[in-house]
Order: sequence, then C-alpha cells, then structure tokens
Amino acid sequence: MPVIPSVFRMASKDDIVAGMKWKAGQTFFVHTHAIQMNPKHWPEPEKFDPDRFMKNSIEKNTLIPFGGGVRMCPGRHLAETGLKVLMVLVFRNFDVSLVNPDAPLHKIYSLANHCEKLQVYIKPREFNT
Ligand code: HEM
Repeated sequence: MPVIPSVFRMASKDDIVAGMKWKAGQTFFVHTHAIQMNPKHWPEPEKFDPDRFMKNSIEKNTLIPFGGGVRMCPGRHLAETGLKVLMVLVFRNFDVSLVNPDAPLHKIYSLANHCEKLQVYIKPREFNT
C-alpha cells in the first residue's frame, strides 16, 4: 500500500494518456493506490507477503510508491536508507510482537495513508555477554 495514494500532473500539451484525450493545461491524478492494490497486478494485495517483492521482474509501473518520471521523489534513497537503519536499530534492541495478531489494521486513507492504531508489545532484547 503506497503511503502517498496518488500523484498529480498537468498536461503540458494536448495528449493521450491511458487511452484518454487530455487538453493542454488539464490536471489529473494517477491513483497509485488503486494500481498497487489491484489484484490483477498484486494477488491478495491485503496479505502480508514480503516475498512478493522477490520476483526477478516486477510489472512496469505497478510499484510506484515514490511516483515516477522527472518529478519522482528525490528523497527516495534517503527515505529507504533511513527506514532500513530505523528498523535495524529497533529490531536489534527490542523484541516486538503484536498484541492481537488477528486484530484488523486501523487504516486511514488520506493524503498520506497510515495506520492509526496497532498495538504491540515491546520488550528489550536480552544479549548474552
Ligand atoms: C517514505 C518516504 C517518502 C515517500 C513515500 C515519498 C513519496 C513521494 C511521492 C509519491 C512524491 C510525488 C512524486 C511524483 O509526483 O511522481 C514525492 C515527491 C517529493 N518528495 Fe518524497 N517521499 C518520501 C520521502 C521524501 C524525503 C525523505 C524527501 C526529502 C529529503 C522527499 C522529498 C520530496 C520532494 C522535494 C518531492 C517533490 C518532487 C518534485 O515535484 O519534483 N521525499 N515524494
């Protein structure tokens, strides 16, 4: 599920995009959320299945959480690196488990999709010295 559910564009000239005619100056948005949550591209999109990203090839333009083209997010690598570092720091030092693995996620769909509530137990990890 992309955090940013859509990206916006303005046609710089009369054009045809996705089979539709657009006049110069017309604005539209690409609903990345609908693309990434479409079971045609991503079977069982709601399922937690990290292995789905291990495929050798991913269908073009079906995984676009950072947008695309010349206006693609310039902070992508910083964000991905930051997230990896954060995960390593947290999971190296703490055991984290869900309070109720069967509880539904309280997702909020807005300008930035997010999870409103996810209860977890956090326990400092014990290291053998
Ligand atoms: C997980 C974190 C992030 C996500 C999911 C994200 C997502 C996005 C998306 C979807 C866009 C629109 C791209 C498009 O229109 O094609 C965007 C644009 C942008 N992002 Fe990010 N972003 C993230 C982190 C960052 C960071 C860390 C920075 C800066 C340090 C940043 C700076 C920008 C800027 C300046 C734009 C506007 C680019 C333009 O219009 O030319 N983003 N981001």
